Amino acid sequence: MMSDPRTCLFATKQLAVDFILLEWQDAAKKAIGQKGRFVVALSGGKTPVDFYRKLSKQKFSYWNKTHIFQVDERYVAPDDADSNFRTLKRILVSKIPALAKNTYPMVSRNSSIEKDAQAYAFKMKEFFHLKEGERPCFDLILLGIGQDGHTASLFSKGPSLREKERFVTISHSSKHPHERLTLTLPVINYAKQVIFLVTGQDRADIIRRIFAGEKRLPAGYVAPQEGRLTFCIDQEAASELPFWRYFFKQGGKK
Ligand code: 6PG
Repeated sequence: MMSDPRTCLFATKQLAVDFILLEWQDAAKKAIGQKGRFVVALSGGKTPVDFYRKLSKQKFSYWNKTHIFQVDERYVAPDDADSNFRTLKRILVSKIPALAKNTYPMVSRNSSIEKDAQAYAFKMKEFFHLKEGERPCFDLILLGIGQDGHTASLFSKGPSLREKERFVTISHSSKHPHERLTLTLPVINYAKQVIFLVTGQDRADIIRRIFAGEKRLPAGYVAPQEGRLTFCIDQEAASELPFWRYFFKQGGKK
């Protein structure tokens, strides 16, 4: 049964990034203690880049036991400026030698996007030693939220949000560039921990709408069955939340 989401509000994005690093370390220690490896899925976009940069500076003894999958990817060449894997590789993977063999790009440029979707799902089935009917269980999934409420590459229009069987599906949106591959809700909601990192004034409206319980926003469908869900929001993205506005109007007085 899903516990209530945890909401952590931070005065700055840097403080949110510092917090997520602590969560990462806790989750890694627990996962490696239990099964000898730490398996995460990381989102693309711009928001998490500061976190990936901070991660790249960490001298973790367990980098060789850390495995990185992608949450989603634009169907572009690996050297395309819009490639999430290109960003992840440039900021993080290229800085930590142990990650070179433990990071799994979503796009492998097989003959088609459908073949790549199937290949990534098969990679997860093999990696997690899944039997028929089982799902991959990530220790930690890091997500962002777009101004329209999409997360991963799950958009309100189209079938991707409603996919109930596949681990990886194809999606696209008229408002966002490129066809994409994305993990589906059955995988995301089976994770041990999901963290949303949402920052910036341009996310204040969508955060207000999500917290007001507006229906049919993709991010609103992220509800880990057994895992923990945490919103890490900076002051700007939280600025339209009533309680946050009240707090700051009072100048933070107790
Ligand atoms: C992508 C991302 C996407 C992202 C949100 C927020 O491939 O675009 O995975 O879901 O998390 O769109 O994007 P920003 O972090 O760039 O604002």
